[in-house]
Amino acid sequence: MQMETASSRVCSRDRVPSRQAEPLEARLRALGPGDIDSLIRWVKDAAVTLYLSQAVAYPASGSDGYRWLEELSRSHSERVFAIETLEGRLIGSVGLHAIRWVDRKAELSVMIGERDYWNRGYGTWAVQEMLRRGFEEMSLQRIYLRVASNHDAAIRVYRKCGFQSEGLLRNDRYVGRGYADTLMMSVLKEEFAAGKSGVRST
Ligand SMILES: CC(C)(COP(=O)(O)OP(=O)(O)OC[C@H]1O[C@@H](n2cnc3c(N)ncnc32)[C@H](O)[C@@H]1OP(=O)(O)O)[C@@H](O)C(=O)NCCC(=O)NCCS
Repeated sequence: MQMETASSRVCSRDRVPSRQAEPLEARLRALGPGDIDSLIRWVKDAAVTLYLSQAVAYPASGSDGYRWLEELSRSHSERVFAIETLEGRLIGSVGLHAIRWVDRKAELSVMIGERDYWNRGYGTWAVQEMLRRGFEEMSLQRIYLRVASNHDAAIRVYRKCGFQSEGLLRNDRYVGRGYADTLMMSVLKEEFAAGKSGVRST
């Protein structure tokens, strides 16, 4: 008998059949005060935050939110954007953190906070667009991330966008009711340039 774990219960996302990579349009824009309520709602949703990146400290309350935005706007080491559908619906955020300009590297995080929009291609689109900006507009050399090694949907997204595994940090985080390993992944500028014609389907 298979035991139900906290993570499978909270995040009960059935494995969906792989779909063809289809062109999907969305927009990245600057985050503003009008987005704070949504951000706070997302970070209070256990299914959204279960595996959330360790790279970002999202705001927990309205006043935190204003301070967070203020610090973000002055920061040289973080770039965080709102993800919006073409109809103007805010659905998540994506960003580069711990940017080290001398080394030309940064850590990526992504959150589709509106769960109705999961498995519709927005996460993949946002990661791909963030990579494009990071490599082509910010001239970064390396973009890396940390992901729980059992977060299959996110790993699927990252692999489709060209991330390669580069190491495992054992028992690095507490997820649900137990420790999980953290998978380190990265993509380099040349790799992105070589494969950038589209999102990979495998
Ligand atoms: C992880 C996350 C960014 C994915 O975003 P998304 O918009 O659902 O991603 P996409 O629709 O572009 O792609 C999801 C892929 O995972 C696959 N998938 C979904 N559930 C899966 C599962 N349980 N096991 C394996 N693959 C799965 C989908 O089939 C799809 O692949 P496909 O295009 O080949 O069919 C989103 O779920 C999220 O923001 N979660 C909460 C925050 C979070 O965990 N962020 C990442 C932290 S590292």
